[in-house]
Parts: sequence; C-alpha cells; structure tokens
Amino acid sequence: MSTFKPFKLALVQLAVGADKQKNVAHAREKVLEASKAGANVVVLPECFNSPYGTHHFPEYAETIPGTTVSALADMAKQAKVYLIGGSIPERESGSDKLYNTCTIYNPKGEMIGKHRKVHLFDIDVPGKIRFQESETLSAGNTLTHVETEYGKLGIGICYDIRFPEITMIAARKGCIAMIYPAAFNMTTGPMHWELLQRARAVDNQMYVAACSPARDTSAGYVAWGHSTIVDPSGGVIATTEDAEDIVYADIDPSVLDSARKGIPTYTQRRFDVYRDVSADIKE
Ligand SMILES: *[C@@H]1O[C@H](CO)[C@@H](O)[C@H](O)[C@H]1NC(C)=O
Repeated sequence: MSTFKPFKLALVQLAVGADKQKNVAHAREKVLEASKAGANVVVLPECFNSPYGTHHFPEYAETIPGTTVSALADMAKQAKVYLIGGSIPERESGSDKLYNTCTIYNPKGEMIGKHRKVHLFDIDVPGKIRFQESETLSAGNTLTHVETEYGKLGIGICYDIRFPEITMIAARKGCIAMIYPAAFNMTTGPMHWELLQRARAVDNQMYVAACSPARDTSAGYVAWGHSTIVDPSGGVIATTEDAEDIVYADIDPSVLDSARKGIPTYTQRRFDVYRDVSADIKE
C-alpha cells in the first residue's frame, strides 16, 4: 500500500432539481460547508446537475471540459479539498455519445481522474418494467483509481457497486476506499443499498462510501437517499435519512490495518486454486 493518512470524508446528499445552474450553485455551497466543517475529501451524488432519467440526459449533457466541470474544478480549489464530483451526463465531443461520468479534482482544482459508469442498467420484464440505460448511454471501458495525498481511492457509479470485481481489483491495487456516487430507488434502496456497501467493505477490508441525492417525491426518479460510509470491518460508521444532509466520517489507516490483521483473509487468498481478478489489470 502506498500513502494512507487519516482524513475526513464528507458525502453531500444534495437536493437536486430541474435547474442546472441552481444545482451547480447549490453544490458549491455544500462543498464549501463541508470544507468549513473540516472535510478533506468531499463527494457529490450521481447526476447532481440534472434530474435522473435517460430522457433528461441529452438535454443536460455537457462536454468535458464544459460549464459544470469548470465549476467543479473551481469549487475544489475554493474549498481546498479533493472533490469526487458526483456524476453528470457527459457528451463526448466528436462522437456525440453520452456517458454517466464522474470527474475528480485535487485541492488545486486540477482534474485527476474521470470515471465513466462501466455497467449500464438495462431491465425489461414484459408487462412490468422496462428501463434501458443503454438506449441513451454508452458504457465506460476503464476502471478508475485516483492517487490523493491521503491514499488511493477507487471510483464506481451506482450499478457498478453490484459487480464485486471492481471493488476487489481496487483493493488489490492499493485503494483504501471505494467511493460510489449513486442513486438507488425506493425498492432497491431498502433491499440492497446498505447490504452492498457492507458486503464490498467486508470482502475487501476497505472503506466503502455511497453518496445519493436527497429524496424528492415529486421527481420522476425517487432516490432512496441514506448516503452511507462503511468501515473495513463492514460496520456503518456514518449515515443519514432521505433529506438533504452532509455525512462525515474520519477515515483512519489504523482501523483498516487492524481489520486486516484481525482477520487475515487479505494475505491468505489461494490464487493457486482460483484466479486473481486483478492480475491482468495494468496500472
Ligand atoms: C426500482 O428499480 C428496480 C430495478 O429496476 C425495479 O424493479 C423497481 O420496480 C423500481 N422501483 C421503483 C419504486 O421505482
């Protein structure tokens, strides 16, 4: 493992509406508030500048760089924090393809990473539900690990959390936390939101955090909220309900260390019996 220093993590469970400029201005207020409260790394939710829904994406999409991305760079600099900029609908210049994309900044306001959601959610149960992200969005093809002065962070977006390989690979490449901007709904939220975070954390003995938008019952997509931070033993160390809020936790290297020493799965894997999924991933 490379650097790992203690830091304060903040998840901004932002109230998101239909007005993009307002969403971005509101995000700035909340990022500054988190920084004043001592946060070193601040996370925004999935789709924080646009309502969630594939039919909204073409209208709200921006290129990178673009207006929202410049604002994010500027807020990171103003707040002097590492900023995991939630996600925005991204329009790729040239191809016109759309992606669900998270950009990451250092405290100087420089972009240090970009994650395009790798797993798109498509469901079609005839007569029941049809939701096809792939009709509007394209999928990213790379995993994202960013180096910060506090430690290496792995990034995934929403549905990516259901694929344990991403988290496993991040942990084995030295990430100390996996961060997911996400928006589960009112069915999958109560059923799996916390379970998935705790599962990813305990399997990999790393911190896991997921940052949701606040719930808006009048929105087309009603988010579960409950932004949560889980420690490397699988315990919930910070969470909230559905309203707008900021969730804070102190991330502590000695906690990760003692979790791994106490239950040493980390050094007792049998890659002679099964494959190491991280083996072929170059960094
Ligand atoms: C939430 O999403 C799941 C998976 O697509 C779907 O089965 C369920 O009907 C949705 N629930 C609500 C309340 O939208």
